[in-house]
Amino acid sequence: MDFCDVIKARHSVRYFEPTPVDTDLLLQIVKEAQTAPSWVNAQEWRVWIATGKTLEAIREEFIPLLKAEAQSESDLPQAHRGDWSEMAQHNMAAFSQSRIDAGLLEAKLEAQSHLFHAPAVIYLTIPKKHSDWAVLDLGGFEQTLLLSAANRGLGTVPAFNLVRYPEIIRRHMGIDESDALAIGIAIGYEADHPLNHFRSSRQATESIVVIKD
Ligand SMILES: Cc1cc2nc3c(=O)[nH]c(=O)nc-3n(C[C@H](O)[C@H](O)[C@H](O)COP(=O)(O)O)c2cc1C
Repeated sequence: MDFCDVIKARHSVRYFEPTPVDTDLLLQIVKEAQTAPSWVNAQEWRVWIATGKTLEAIREEFIPLLKAEAQSESDLPQAHRGDWSEMAQHNMAAFSQSRIDAGLLEAKLEAQSHLFHAPAVIYLTIPKKHSDWAVLDLGGFEQTLLLSAANRGLGTVPAFNLVRYPEIIRRHMGIDESDALAIGIAIGYEADHPLNHFRSSRQATESIVVIKD
């Protein structure tokens, strides 16, 4: 696919077909994500992929907790909305409102509680004892992975809610207590569902850029 088409094709997919994703394809996507840059090439990321029975077991345990919106126990602290900048708060409020206006809030919560019905979830970890730069590096790794998946016809959504209860994932995946579950990425084939027709907006580019010569 043309690179600009890949960038345009990527969007958060929140309802997946049950069709499994081939293991070699998942590995290829991770391999491409590994081309991301990192501080002194530290590459302080690890990738854990849950599919099949393991993912079903995780899903079973997540469903009641996410439905009840049980208190998050995430390894990376959940920032309260009031702690974000005014600009970010404005964008988050606009995003939430646009989803309500589209009548998709209930469907989103329902799909999310089922881990978006994804046939696979990719968990990204970094050591709990990490430099701030490792989080920046992981963001690059994540975005490269999302674009690689889009290029190969796969949908994705990176989601905090997928790592909201890390102890469950740790137990099923054998992830060490010293590793922080930073983000989960649901991956699979996009279902034809209203949730996937929704598109988030972006600020005017001129409003976030300063160029001086
Ligand atoms: C760190 C991070 C956490 C996110 N967590 C969630 C989540 O828990 N649930 C969800 O539905 N989307 C989640 N998203 C997806 C964002 O809502 C989405 O990327 C944003 O609205 C822009 O939309 P787009 O990805 O379709 O371009 C998350 C994205 C990021 C980068």
